[in-house]
Amino acid sequence: MITKYYSIAFTTITFLLMNLLSAQEKTNVLVLFHSDQGGTYTLAKEIAKGIEKNGTTKATIKQVQPSNHILLKNVPVAHVDELPNYDGIAFGSPVYFGNISTPMSQFLSKTVDLWTNHLLENLPATVFMSAGSGAGNELAVQAFWNTLAVHGMVLVSNGIRGMENVDTTKPQGNTVLGTTSLASLKNSPRPSESERYLAQIQGENFAQIATALKSTRRKKNIQNSTPALIDIDKEIQAKGIILPQVPQPAGNYKPYIRSGNLIFINQVALKDGKIQYPGKIGTTVSEKQAQEATKTTMLNVLAVLKDAVGGDLNRVVQCVQLTGIFNTTDQYTQHALLMNEASNLTVDVFGEKGKHARATFGANSIPVNSVVEIQAIFEVN
Ligand SMILES: Cc1cc2nc3c(=O)[nH]c(=O)nc-3n(C[C@H](O)[C@H](O)[C@H](O)COP(=O)(O)O)c2cc1C
Repeated sequence: MITKYYSIAFTTITFLLMNLLSAQEKTNVLVLFHSDQGGTYTLAKEIAKGIEKNGTTKATIKQVQPSNHILLKNVPVAHVDELPNYDGIAFGSPVYFGNISTPMSQFLSKTVDLWTNHLLENLPATVFMSAGSGAGNELAVQAFWNTLAVHGMVLVSNGIRGMENVDTTKPQGNTVLGTTSLASLKNSPRPSESERYLAQIQGENFAQIATALKSTRRKKNIQNSTPALIDIDKEIQAKGIILPQVPQPAGNYKPYIRSGNLIFINQVALKDGKIQYPGKIGTTVSEKQAQEATKTTMLNVLAVLKDAVGGDLNRVVQCVQLTGIFNTTDQYTQHALLMNEASNLTVDVFGEKGKHARATFGANSIPVNSVVEIQAIFEVN
């Protein structure tokens, strides 16, 4: 009887270990795209289908920036730091004037640290694009390659793979460097069947190359001991930092505004619906109370920020600037001491990305008799 239980346990453990090993051995490819109208996203999904065809490669589709487009709003957003963790990256973008799109270019311009640390070297890359008429589409794919070549990535072209099965009665967007689609051709749904087919073939071939190269890259990464990615949301929980409910505006304005990649936020010392320690430092409010109110205010800022990045604080690139305004007497000079509460909290949460430029000053009064108001600017992706 006991032998039978041992045997079942042994089989179960072996099965779990094998599953674990096969999960570790799976090739992981990122399909990273930008899309305005969804054309590039459709190609990305075809590329991903091709990548997963062999059953041993996983494709993760992410975009370079959040989008409000109905097709794109639920697609996760990538962070540059995660790129070295994959075994290959398929890059997709619309053609902008024979070049890559501005958001893709902005994303790639944030990879300088990866470049100087050689983190993308020998990582396979392939490129696909959605064009309008197709003007300059081959130039555009080549322009994409320029950046990836400077990173030392292994560029995987498509050649004439699959061309024998393409419908040549219609214009098709294919290039030898990578699949493209001609989105603006009338009476012809795009990507066309042939363009989708070529995208799948590209994905399938790319998965083979990524799988072949992954063991060398993984060894190199272990030698270089790439720093593990930190999940800021988990870190916050572990540190016992609890973000409050997002305070609602008291007038005709919004809790935050996003302009480009910058988020602008202003908050006062509201806690549980009431102003914490209202009044003036040096008369009705002590320095210690003002410090507490400053921390409360910064927690409000972070709660709004979390809302602004769709609940994912890992999307914060940098705290750019904090400005602390304190309700003080004319003689007060210790504004920096108070503001350190906000600065320390920000660095505690975001590490290096939390370091910011800072201004502090005193005011005769602050709305709703708060002892402090903080203005914050964050860069996000
Ligand atoms: C600023 C800008 C420049 C563009 N330049 C070109 C171009 O040079 N050649 C081209 O064929 N299409 C060009 N287009 C059209 C886009 O490449 C095309 O609409 C593409 O399919 C959009 O992809 P999406 O559906 O993923 O947003 C341009 C579009 C914009 C917005």
